[in-house]
Formats: sequence, structure tokens, C-alpha cells
Amino acid sequence: MIEPATFVRWFRSALPYIHSHRGRTFVVHFGGEAIADPAFSGLIHDLALLHGMGIRLVLVYGIRPQIEARLRRRNLACRYHRGLRITDAAALECVKEAAGEARLEIEARLSMGVADSPMAGVRLRVASGNFITAKPLGVIDGVDFEYTGEVRRVDAEAIAHLLERELVVLVSPLGYSPTGEVFNLRAEAVATAVATALKADKLLLLLEGPCNLGKERVAQLTSAEARQHLNRGAFSEEIAPHVEAAVRAVEGGIARAHLLDRHQDGTLLLELFTRDGSGTLISRQPFETLRPATLEDIPGILELIEPLEREGILVERSRERLEMELEDYCVIERDGLVIGCAALHPFPEAKTGELACLVLHPDYRGENRGRRLLEHVEHRARALGLQRLFVLTTRTSHWFLEQGFKPGDFTELPQERQRRYDVRRNSKVLFKWL
Ligand SMILES: CC(C)(COP(=O)(O)OP(=O)(O)OC[C@H]1O[C@@H](n2cnc3c(N)ncnc32)[C@H](O)[C@@H]1OP(=O)(O)O)[C@@H](O)C(=O)NCCC(=O)NCCS
Repeated sequence: MIEPATFVRWFRSALPYIHSHRGRTFVVHFGGEAIADPAFSGLIHDLALLHGMGIRLVLVYGIRPQIEARLRRRNLACRYHRGLRITDAAALECVKEAAGEARLEIEARLSMGVADSPMAGVRLRVASGNFITAKPLGVIDGVDFEYTGEVRRVDAEAIAHLLERELVVLVSPLGYSPTGEVFNLRAEAVATAVATALKADKLLLLLEGPCNLGKERVAQLTSAEARQHLNRGAFSEEIAPHVEAAVRAVEGGIARAHLLDRHQDGTLLLELFTRDGSGTLISRQPFETLRPATLEDIPGILELIEPLEREGILVERSRERLEMELEDYCVIERDGLVIGCAALHPFPEAKTGELACLVLHPDYRGENRGRRLLEHVEHRARALGLQRLFVLTTRTSHWFLEQGFKPGDFTELPQERQRRYDVRRNSKVLFKWL
């Protein structure tokens, strides 16, 4: 039984993630191994939970082991070239059967609402369909791949329409051609194509093991770094196609692709709702960036400063004021969350700037981010031709003294700022020459 205090702390810490994921579109890919695993229901429950939190889900499934089992049963050989299956007419029959059976299995699991299970009372509606148009891969190195195909088009409009109606969309690794033929596709490639066409917020790929470089888990990579590792063959043969799919998705405009070890219980929840995640995030931008604030950052900034306003460490700021002064703000964004901010309010006539609202989320203090924000503000101030910075602080003066600020008097503030000085707060005034 989880301790009440631990539960409450954990639940509160998940709140910013819950807010930030609501209404977003996530494409989740898992292989046929996951479907065949007795632990599959755990994954289904976690997906139901994500759906329940207002996340729009598209599930793309693979069927490789199911196809192989059918081929074996019929004494047919598994034929591969360059790691890709050659699908002849007999193999295609196995592919169709396996895809149909997997679809029924997933739909049945998503429909379960057994009392005493995490699915009790959940009513999930699932849709599948002919979303993928495919074309034959053709002949490569003189080898005809026959019914092995590649994605030609994704009917993103139809999928988006179903997501709009709160359905979970299920996509098989089969595609249809305008000539009425069925093609066997790589599920990871389908997932990437679907995510890109939908302009999804995330692509989550569940792998058969951790996405390690050597023995170490890598928590984050930019798409350029991941591409370099791929080129030098740093990933295992099993993981590499998934990394490739993730990199392509990011190169195709998806902000974040996550590679997760499906054997870790609750891997989706850990990755999506905890600070350190559980897998490997691939993004175009570095995972953490310091940049000017935009309108979208306002809820995040307000959430960050509210506890400090309540404690009286910061002066209260309304949303309207924040919107008006937005161009003075910069933020540190980490995986979509605002974890730090600072503002520079310039007083050009006095060649002075006020450093204000310097805050870091408590989980991210003590790792030099405060100093980085300050350096950024100083850099901007210099660029604006300012010669001095000042800060008004009640509780943080020692931190500023350590950063080169010197105590001063409020009469040294620009006139305009003196008039607004709140004598009841009795803040200390500190200056730094740039
Ligand atoms: C002040 C703040 C922005 C510093 O951010 P940070 O990323 O932790 O800063 P750094 O990593 O560069 O520096 C951390 C050091 O500053 C010290 N420090 C943090 N707050 C301090 C304070 N109020 N007074 C004195 N020292 C402080 C830490 O103890 C740490 O020292 P150590 O390395 O010797 O352990 C952050 O602590 C914060 O958000 N505080 C609450 C908001 C606040 O007070 N803002 C200023 C309003 S005017």
C-alpha cells in the first residue's frame, strides 16, 4: 500500500504533465511481441488511463512473430532481404490473418470493463479502417519484394475526425493500393508516417529492450545526434529501425519521439508523467532550452511563480500584466514544461534594467540554471545599451551578492521605479554594473 503522503506528493508532481498532455495527439507503436505477452493487459490499462486523461491516441501495432508462427505452421520459409520480409502470395495470406487476429485481440482488450480491474467502468470506443494507401516496394538488388510495400499516403483527415470524437484509432501494418491489393508494411514506418501526417505531438515507440548506447541508457538525444549514432552503427540491430523511425518522425516535424522499453512496467506513465522519464527522448531541439517567452508559456510561468507569490517572495503578477510585459521574459523549457523564468524590465533613460521574477522550479535548483538565466539577462541588457542592473529582493539577497550584485539604496533607482517602490515590502535593493 502506498503511503498517503507519497501518493499526494506524487500526484501533485504529475499535475503539470497532466495539463500539458491533455488534448494532445500521441501515436503509440508496439510490436506483435507485446500483444502475445501475458503482460499485455498492463499496457492496455495504461493506454486506457492516457485516453481517460484526454490524450488522443493512435495505436499502431506490429505482427512479426504472429506472421512467422503462421508461416512455420504451413511449412513456409521466412524470406528476408536487407532485413525486410519478402511477402509472396502465400505469406500475404499469413500477414492478413495475423493482422486481423491481432486487431480483434487489441479491440477485445480495450473493450474489457471487468469489475476489480483498472478498466472497470471504462467505456473505450475503438476505430480501425483503410487509413493507409500503399505501393509495392518493387525490385531491389534484383529481388522482387512482391507484396511488401511502403506507405504512399495517410488519410490523416479521417483519423483526426475519429480522434475528435474521442475514439482510439487502431492502425494495422497493412496498406491498400488503389488497384485493390493489400501490402505488408513495416509497422514502425507506418507509425512514423501516421504521426507525421497527423502532425502528432509525440510518437512513442515501445521496443523489446532499452534504447542503450553500449550499456548505458541515454535519456535524450537530438535528432542530429541520434542520426550520427545510427550512421556509425552504435545501436543494436533490433533497436536501430526504431531509432530510425523516431529520427525520421522528428525530421518530419514531430517535436518529440520517445523510445521505451516495453518490459518495464508502466513505462508510458513513467516517461510521460515523471521528471526523469524512463526511456530515450529524441527531439529536434535540445531537450532543455533557454529562450524568449511566448504566449504559450504564460500558463507555465504563472504555475511556476504562484507558490512564491503566496510566500511573499515574489510580488503578485496578473495574467494581464504578464501578457503586456511578455517580451521582457525569458524561460527555460524542458521537455515542453517551463521550469524557470526571468524578466528584464528596461529603463532606457537611466541606462538601467530591472532583473525581476527570477525563478526556478524547486526540482531544478542548484544546478547553475539560476546563473544561466542571469547571464542571459545581462547579455540582453548589454545589447540594449544598459549599464546597470538592479534587483529588489526580500529573501534572496545573498544569492545575488554571490553573483556580483552590491547593496544600494532605493534613491539610486530610476525615478519612475522609486515611485512604485512598495515600502511595506521593504525589499533590499542590489545593483550590478555590467
Ligand atoms: C534564486 C534561484 C533563482 C537560484 O537558482 P539556482 O539555479 O538554484 O541557482 P544556482 O544553481 O546558480 O545557485 C545555487 C546556489 O545558490 C544558493 N541559493 C539559492 N537560493 C538562495 C537564497 N535565497 N539565498 C542565498 N543563497 C541561495 C543555493 O544554496 C546554492 O548554493 P550552493 O551551490 O552553495 O549549494 C532559485 O533558488 C529560486 O528560484 N529561488 C526562489 C525564487 C527567488 O527567490 N527568486 C528571486 C526573487 S528576487
